Amino acid sequence: MNDSLKHLDRHSTPAKALTEPAPDDRQLRLILKTAMSAPDHGRLHPYRFISIRGQARHKLSEVFGRAIMQREPDVDPAYLKKQKDKPLRSPLIVVVVAHLIESPKIPEIEQMLSAGAAAQNILLASNALGFGSIWLTGDNAYDPYVCGELGLAENERIIGFIYLGTPALEIPPRPIPEVSTHLSHWE
Ligand SMILES: Cc1cc2nc3c(=O)[nH]c(=O)nc-3n(C[C@H](O)[C@H](O)[C@H](O)COP(=O)(O)O)c2cc1C
Repeated sequence: MNDSLKHLDRHSTPAKALTEPAPDDRQLRLILKTAMSAPDHGRLHPYRFISIRGQARHKLSEVFGRAIMQREPDVDPAYLKKQKDKPLRSPLIVVVVAHLIESPKIPEIEQMLSAGAAAQNILLASNALGFGSIWLTGDNAYDPYVCGELGLAENERIIGFIYLGTPALEIPPRPIPEVSTHLSHWE
């Protein structure tokens, strides 16, 4: 048996080292199709995606800026600029949104987990296509103002901002713990 697997070389790339080209629309569709193959109790597909590229990143930058000003009116201007610059670092951002329904059978946690699995599949599919990525959240992901500006409904949550592009950095292999440290055998 081969002891290696393509997925083992997945790693995050710092957002500022993600450059053009980003996945084009066709590649993004393939990536999101993989996302939507995530396991999903009840076939709810409890997520949706918002793609943000080009000029739209500047709109997100302004939204982040206003959100921070609302949270911290006395914010240090240098910190504010740094936060506003964040969406401009990479050519493409995919916002993964959990779309939760009330169900007597499928608890919210399971729907959130499906949306998280969809997000992870974005990272794996991007890696398989040769793109770099990183899954980021931070306070803005949980800020009602940001959610509102992005058009989220009451029953929706931001799972993450996934920054995508072509890695401009060689990242050393990431250390993965020995499996035995995380595995026990119940007998
Ligand atoms: C739900 C979630 C949210 C995350 N949010 C952040 C974040 O806001 N900032 C950050 O530096 N890393 C964040 N990370 C971690 C990075 O995505 C990444 O996993 C980490 O830098 C380790 O790199 P690796 O993926 O190469 O192991 C988050 C990860 C997850 C799963």
